[in-house]
Amino acid sequence: MRNFILGVIITLLVLIVGGLVFALLGFVPTNADSTPPRIETRLANTALDASMERHAPRLTNPVPPTDENLIEGMKIYTMNCSVCHGTLDNKPGLLEKSLYPPPPQIILEPMDDPEWHIYHAVRTGIRYTGMPAWNKALTEQDMWKVTAFIARIEKLPPAVQDYWKKSFGVAPPAANSEGGKEHKD
Ligand code: HEC
Repeated sequence: MRNFILGVIITLLVLIVGGLVFALLGFVPTNADSTPPRIETRLANTALDASMERHAPRLTNPVPPTDENLIEGMKIYTMNCSVCHGTLDNKPGLLEKSLYPPPPQIILEPMDDPEWHIYHAVRTGIRYTGMPAWNKALTEQDMWKVTAFIARIEKLPPAVQDYWKKSFGVAPPAANSEGGKEHKD
């Protein structure tokens, strides 16, 4: 029994020291311009969802989704988020392929997460990714406005859709999908 425990301890030590040597000798890749393996993506997404479930308070959006607030949310998105998450002329973000992991394309593939989830991600950011914590950069009101906008990309009221069309020259995703979804790239 004592030998068995000693064996376990030595194995653990070898793994830890091996991992440290591997990292400290520079074998861990640090480039951001490659695609994460599928298993890594799946593991990380599952861990992220579980952490959200555990940590994110179930808040209700205190900002009413009026046309005015949604249009402001759209502007906040354009100024701060579109470079990674995709622009309102339905193109991928400039940095789509420049981060590890790559940023989800929220305009081309709208999210169906609840607002408390989106808000928590926006407010606190996502560690080990390029997703910043916006609580030091945007006001509470603005974070809720952009959250309201993101949560409704496919079901914006007509006036907000018109504003989108007029400003960016193309219709929002919901309007596109009515006439057979437009291609994505
Ligand atoms: C510098 C690039 C960058 C910018 C700018 C950025 N994000 Fe992100 N964002 C990311 C990345 C990368 C992820 C993916 C993290 C992951 O894979 O888990 C992400 C994830 C998200 C998610 C999804 C969280 C989840 O649970 O799946 C939301 C929502 C989000 N961002 C909203 C925003 C909003 C709103 C803004 C602007 C206020 C913004 N992001 C600005 C890079 C960015």
